[in-house]
Amino acid sequence: MNQSELDRLQSWFDSYVQTFYDTDDDGLRNIRLKVEHTGQVCRVMELLAAGEGLSPDDARIAAAAALLHDVGRFPQYRRWRTFRDSDSDNHARLSVEVLREQRLLERLEVGERLLIEEAVRFHNLLELPARLKSPTALFLKLLRDADKLDIWRVFLDYFQKPPEERASAASLGFPDRPEISPECVATLAAGRVIRLDTVKTLNDFKLLQISWVYDLNFPSSCRLLAERGHIQRLAATIQPGEALAPLLEKVMAEVKGRAAGQLPEGI
Ligand SMILES: [Fe+2]
Repeated sequence: MNQSELDRLQSWFDSYVQTFYDTDDDGLRNIRLKVEHTGQVCRVMELLAAGEGLSPDDARIAAAAALLHDVGRFPQYRRWRTFRDSDSDNHARLSVEVLREQRLLERLEVGERLLIEEAVRFHNLLELPARLKSPTALFLKLLRDADKLDIWRVFLDYFQKPPEERASAASLGFPDRPEISPECVATLAAGRVIRLDTVKTLNDFKLLQISWVYDLNFPSSCRLLAERGHIQRLAATIQPGEALAPLLEKVMAEVKGRAAGQLPEGI
């Protein structure tokens, strides 16, 4: 893919999102949240592409996947007024549907088109699908890391805003109660990603986001995460913080190890 193709995709995205701005104030905040998220995922992707030494061609494919990964969020919100896939439809599938309906990638080589579509299609799976072929795995892993690195920012921003300015769909509607589910704590302690269907409270959801550390794929992603301090800031919003302190120390040690290139086998 050349640069002018990527520029064309960006222009398409800019016009496409315009068609969703005709809504009420709450709707507008939620649509803007996803437009901003996409822009930030693209920026993170540039950093990861540079950090991991991607060729210019591969960096453009990665950039296209970042730009298009959440386009299904816009029709999802318009139709169901939620970003919760379980109450609506799988937004990654909706994104691929938009790409096909709009015939957006038809000018690309088939191989490149498939790489982008597969990265978009699988970017929100709890775990990477087994037996992925190597170029598909590269772009999917990059996209999953870039997406997480910005979702941490979105979520932290959400807490810093007064309730009336918050994009209501960002926290997926979990009740803000002090409890933390033992099942979520145990999963994090075991070094695994917490499943969304085990989350009951907003605190559980925060732990779920912290557990994403165990799903990062590249040293550059972990370095960026450490630099940005998202995990420490997220942990500081959980009450009572003290009980979780040893667990969070373990997570931070994991980030440090992965940033230094100590990734689990198979990644
Ligand atoms: Fe997504």
